[in-house]
Amino acid sequence: MKYIYIKTWGCQMNEYDSSMIANLLQKEKKYLLTSSIEQADILILNTCSIREKAQEKLFHQLGRWKKIKDDNPKIIIAVGGCVATQEGKKIFKRANYVDIIFGTQTLHKLPNMISKIENNTNRIIDISFPKLEKFKYVSKPIKTKYTENVSIMEGCNKHCSFCIVPYTRGHELSRPCYDILYEISNLAKQGVREINLLGQNVNAYKGLTVNGKICRFSELIRLVAKINGIDRIRFITSHPIEFTDDIIEVYKDTPKLVSFLHLPVQSGSNKILKLMKRLYTVEDYKLIIKKLKLVRPNIQISSDFIVGFPGESDQDFQQTIDLIEDINFDMSFSFIYSRRPKTPAAKMKDNISLQEKQKRLYILQNRINIQTMLWSRKMFGSTQSILVEGISNKNTTELFGRTENNRIVTFKGSPNMIGQFINLKINKIHTYSLKGELI
Ligand code: SAH
Ligand code: F3S
Repeated sequence: MKYIYIKTWGCQMNEYDSSMIANLLQKEKKYLLTSSIEQADILILNTCSIREKAQEKLFHQLGRWKKIKDDNPKIIIAVGGCVATQEGKKIFKRANYVDIIFGTQTLHKLPNMISKIENNTNRIIDISFPKLEKFKYVSKPIKTKYTENVSIMEGCNKHCSFCIVPYTRGHELSRPCYDILYEISNLAKQGVREINLLGQNVNAYKGLTVNGKICRFSELIRLVAKINGIDRIRFITSHPIEFTDDIIEVYKDTPKLVSFLHLPVQSGSNKILKLMKRLYTVEDYKLIIKKLKLVRPNIQISSDFIVGFPGESDQDFQQTIDLIEDINFDMSFSFIYSRRPKTPAAKMKDNISLQEKQKRLYILQNRINIQTMLWSRKMFGSTQSILVEGISNKNTTELFGRTENNRIVTFKGSPNMIGQFINLKINKIHTYSLKGELI
């Protein structure tokens, strides 16, 4: 038996890919996943390149692994994910002890690549884009949690001017609808209760049905809601330009779909949105939220923001803050603009000092934190349905779970509650987490 150690950076898509790698290799019965690097025979790094310093971070990490390989030359090192796709062979040049380079779309070839290296083949690289091929290998996933991610599509066609994803993950491609439903049914049979549908733009989903028809995202959610055992559905990420009325309708008739939506807006200035090639205006965004609130008055919205995009003036930034207050965004992600190779924005003049960017990020995050706290406070004394996920890391006498609006709640309960939905009364509030008691 050989041991594999996987280190994952980046988004949920990468996490999903890593779990696919783990399942694939363990299926071979020759390999076992380990969390101890000392025990490992194969080291796998799944990388992310969304913001800068990705390459530097990669070579730092590889430098550490080189020392392990110096002590034990039999160890196999494989690098995959977005940086691997972007940098390709250059990685071999800078780190000649790396054995395998695989891409975001070729991870299913890893077992074969590893056995070739075990049989003394020279190093191997495959960062090609075979369409959706990797998904052919995931139809029987192994449950690891009671809430699971399921990828429904790959890649992105939007080409926002700042973003590297279309170059590292390829074109938008939807998995067939029956594949996704089969995977989710399988997870449900293993006890999974909550599903998070993943993709760069899940609302652009158009997958084939068994009859050869096209299933849209709204239909897919309704079909997932029909699967026995699945009682909560989330998705991430959706794009405002394809947030069509049929999706809003689903919020009306599908209570299993959570009242919490992550809909990245990036900026509150129409000038900046245009430069970002986001293809919507602030007014379009507000209209979507208005329509959503008509069918789900209590829905909470979170977002991604970029500050310091080339050309962002004080006024533009102030418009972002105004939008944050207007929508009353809950916990969100925010980043300083980072120039990415090959992207159109890389050619724009970056005219804002780092100090100014940091100041804007600080102001923005402060505002979001206040709002997040206010949202949490509103929950004090309320009854919340939570999916119990396990024993709390911080206090092993407690369990933890998540509310519909993604707050972690800890409470005293018995281990047989793990994997069940239970009702708790919220009796203590922190900004990002809560405490509750059984009722
Ligand atoms: N598909 C998603 C975004 C995926 S990337 C969408 O439609 O928005 C996740 C987030 O990273 C983005 O929403 C953006 O806020 C941030 N991001 C992407 N590229 C970036 C860059 N070059 N600099 C800073 N932040 C970036
Ligand atoms: Fe990136 Fe825009 Fe697509 S942020 S992932 S190019 S929607």
